[in-house]
Amino acid sequence: MDAAEFRRRGREMVDYVADYLENIEQRPVYPDVEPGYLRSLIPTEAPLEPDNYDDIIKDVERIIMPGVTHWQSPYFFAYFPAASSYPAMLADMLCGAIGCIGFSWAASPACTELETVMLDWLGKMLKLPEHFIAGTHGHGGGVIQSTASEATLMSLLAARCKAVRRVQETNPERLEAEVLSKLVAYSSEQAHSSVERASLIGGVMMRKVPTDNTYAVGGGMLKKMLEEDRAAGLIPFYFCATLGTTSSCAFDHITELGPICNEENMWMHIDAAYAGSAFICPEFRPLLNGIEFADSFNFNPHKWLLINFDCSTMWVKKRQDIIGAFKVEPLYLKHENQESGRHWQIPLGRRFRSLKMWFVFRLYGIEGLQAHIRKQVVLAKEFESLVRADKRFEICAEVVMGLVCFRLKGSNELNQLLLKRITESRTIHLVPCQLSGLFVLRFAVCSRVTDSGHVQHSSIFRSAAMLSSPVSSNHCAVDPCENNLTQNPNVYERKECRMSYFTFSICNFFAIDFDVSLTFIVLFVLQSFRCEPILSVYAASMSSSPTWVGLL
Ligand SMILES: Cc1ncc(COP(=O)(O)O)c(C=O)c1O
Repeated sequence: MDAAEFRRRGREMVDYVADYLENIEQRPVYPDVEPGYLRSLIPTEAPLEPDNYDDIIKDVERIIMPGVTHWQSPYFFAYFPAASSYPAMLADMLCGAIGCIGFSWAASPACTELETVMLDWLGKMLKLPEHFIAGTHGHGGGVIQSTASEATLMSLLAARCKAVRRVQETNPERLEAEVLSKLVAYSSEQAHSSVERASLIGGVMMRKVPTDNTYAVGGGMLKKMLEEDRAAGLIPFYFCATLGTTSSCAFDHITELGPICNEENMWMHIDAAYAGSAFICPEFRPLLNGIEFADSFNFNPHKWLLINFDCSTMWVKKRQDIIGAFKVEPLYLKHENQESGRHWQIPLGRRFRSLKMWFVFRLYGIEGLQAHIRKQVVLAKEFESLVRADKRFEICAEVVMGLVCFRLKGSNELNQLLLKRITESRTIHLVPCQLSGLFVLRFAVCSRVTDSGHVQHSSIFRSAAMLSSPVSSNHCAVDPCENNLTQNPNVYERKECRMSYFTFSICNFFAIDFDVSLTFIVLFVLQSFRCEPILSVYAASMSSSPTWVGLL
């Protein structure tokens, strides 16, 4: 491909991308493929002769798109957001074009310097304490990591190194291996799995601190565990607090935990992977109070700040703590200006990711980014109201930001079945979590383009519940298909359930609302006469949604 063709294909690709994103809601959010679907669609070997570009683009629709889960769809409510914006995508193109590997200042001065300045801009947007801002002579500062998992791992390894050195300074006779075997790290039982993995990779013990009834860790419980462990001859050295837990967006009490960590000479790392972006809004900033006690802090602008993956920002109070722990300096990488992100991370190479931050911050402005966060929080509250309006459901954790945890009142099996029905409908996509032993559904507002209409449309979760559940509340009758469903969800045969629709409609007539009962009466009649096409049209028109068709 020469420059002339690149210009032509580039314009076509921009059009393809814009069309994809503008029309994304026409695609089912969750793919209808089986594991291994792709292998059979492509050759077993790479082509010897060059392929044709048009064929590749055709194959994108034929082979790739059918297997894509559309994270940018306004009906994607799973996990947490994967941020995306046009300015960030354009900046990423430029990053690819420059194609530098910015492992040292000399390897591309703009790459190293823009990153330091962007981390300062963002740190100031979050009102981080002065010691995290590099400025021109600060001791702290920030870098871009690929993921929150890496930031946690790096902080744990730096803390481990610092702890071993400290113990050996006062007890030079103690061997490193012996000290390592006594080190203990702590994190919330609700912390992300990457925190536990960091301890496994770092080869240190990790103890999980129980949470209170809001799924947050308070100072009392940590203190108690520290006393026990010190009495047993162990050396507590690290605590990872979470602001915005993955399961329920709970916030550990860092104003209590921070002073304890400082007194005990423990490194406090704060993982705010999702929630961190919201701290640019003054109304959410109080949740970050206590940051002044932390040694390191990380969040993912690639989750909620409109900067495409990967961009996970990490700040440390003292750069030397992290650089000093991992510095290896071969001659070919040496330069009199030693500023470089490579000392903060495992890989040597670094992409020019700060370009994405620069484009996004300049094109949205702080106000534009705040508006994005606030809009998504309002949408989450709207969904919460939908759930609360239906007495068969319950909200399982306080809705603070863009995440709503909810479930049908009733057994875990029932909720598993509800999620299965929702997933099979391919209309909205959710994932579950576990809270206090309960199977809970998470609804996270994710896409930049999700609006109130999409949230209202998501109330299909109630229809799915109707088809899948005997509902425990006295507001709803029992669905007689329940036995089929719970014993073997795959045998929800229309035939077998035909009578059930009838019974269910009658029961619901007295219990829920007339529309729903009417729907089931019509379904019963249509199924009885095997009017499948009419059945589909009717179901679709009843709900103005393809979901019913999917569910049927
Ligand atoms: C609280 C928290 N920490 C860490 C992670 C892991 O993030 P990453 O994929 O950037 O490693 C997540 C992912 O959702 C998270 O919610």
